[in-house]
Amino acid sequence: MTSPLFSSVNWQTLFVNVNLATMSEGSAGYGVVENAALAVSDGKIAWLGKATDLPPYDKDSVAVIDGDNQWLTPGLVDCHTHLVYGGDRANEFEMRLEGKSYEEIANAGGGIVSTVSATRKASEQSLFETALKRLTALHQQGVTTVEIKSGYGLDVDNEIKMLKVAGMLGKTLPVTIKRTFLGAHALPLEYKDKPDEYIDLVCNEMLPKVAQEQLADAVDIFCEGIGFNLAQTERVFMCAQALGLPVKIHAEQLSNLGGSELAAKYNALSSDHIEFIDEVGISAMKQADMTAVLLPGAFYFLRETQLPPVDLLRQHQVPMAIATDANPGSSPINNLQLMLNMACTFFRLTPVEALAGVTCHGAKALGLSSAKGQLAVGFDADIACWDIKQPAELCYQFGVNPLVTLFKAGKRVL
Ligand code: NIG
Ligand code: FE
Repeated sequence: MTSPLFSSVNWQTLFVNVNLATMSEGSAGYGVVENAALAVSDGKIAWLGKATDLPPYDKDSVAVIDGDNQWLTPGLVDCHTHLVYGGDRANEFEMRLEGKSYEEIANAGGGIVSTVSATRKASEQSLFETALKRLTALHQQGVTTVEIKSGYGLDVDNEIKMLKVAGMLGKTLPVTIKRTFLGAHALPLEYKDKPDEYIDLVCNEMLPKVAQEQLADAVDIFCEGIGFNLAQTERVFMCAQALGLPVKIHAEQLSNLGGSELAAKYNALSSDHIEFIDEVGISAMKQADMTAVLLPGAFYFLRETQLPPVDLLRQHQVPMAIATDANPGSSPINNLQLMLNMACTFFRLTPVEALAGVTCHGAKALGLSSAKGQLAVGFDADIACWDIKQPAELCYQFGVNPLVTLFKAGKRVL
């Protein structure tokens, strides 16, 4: 008999015989629900809980998926990437092995600006094709949301070209793409010794155009000795704020310029890298409700030795996200599962913290904390199904992909 209060009437999909690592706010640890069920309606999670608590449902209108005791997590979020770029930097990898440092290579005209010249030469189509391969690799590991930065164009047309390619990627694969304008990533050669004039270009031409054409969701800057100073950073933040765009920052990667503290004054979404941040910066981040984005791939690939101050971040309860930083120079890595492992081995995050880093906290770093990164009622039904016996396995092993199926907005995409 159908009751008028029949709560499952609109469910399209129901997972049964599954275990959940909900990663939901307010629940301890992974937010585990074993012997669970989860229902999807209109692309959102409509119900979840113990299978024994399932309300009556209409077996004829719901597609029931028997999960065979798999674990379900939120689709993973890679909240910091530079996936769109031309060329590669394998030659600089060799140079570094022959004794040159990342900074020496950058100062000698290599580094970011060498990727800039390859990116400028590349057509939209070829940038799209190479980035699609990288995004596909992430997607096949259970990633359903990816942030992509510009920053290898460094002139109006090429920055816009990169952002458009990032937008095309989101229309091609079932992955939510958040675009970040990183015009102030490095000084292009034509502005050598004229950083303030380049910041004029960023603020007066690039940013208004990017905002007007709605090509970006946020604005980032590389605040560093080999990037831009605090005054230049503040100019970009002021301009972004005036245009209504949230900001974030690459800061304290190689030295401490106080970038995170400045970013906090502008209510930035996140400060990223932060190996050299101090307690003043961390406390400012907490006050501004920012997320710390830790990037173990860049730490590993640059053979850094300064660890991010994880204990202080914990003490101040600053949420920590983990991301690939996928880029050709400092983190040529398209593997978020490997980052889970490295966050634990290098940074001593617990597996719970690492998994939160690529789910709820990754979503928070993108301003998506009410829609993505948690298995919770009302959240997008972006769901990864894993052949594992416990959630810690996702951090423990690497090189074997335990993803079984992937759902985006409730539809099976892998
Ligand atoms: O996040 N720090 C600046 N940007 C990138 C490096 C980009 C590159 O070397 O091409 C990073 O590590
Ligand atoms: Fe980066």
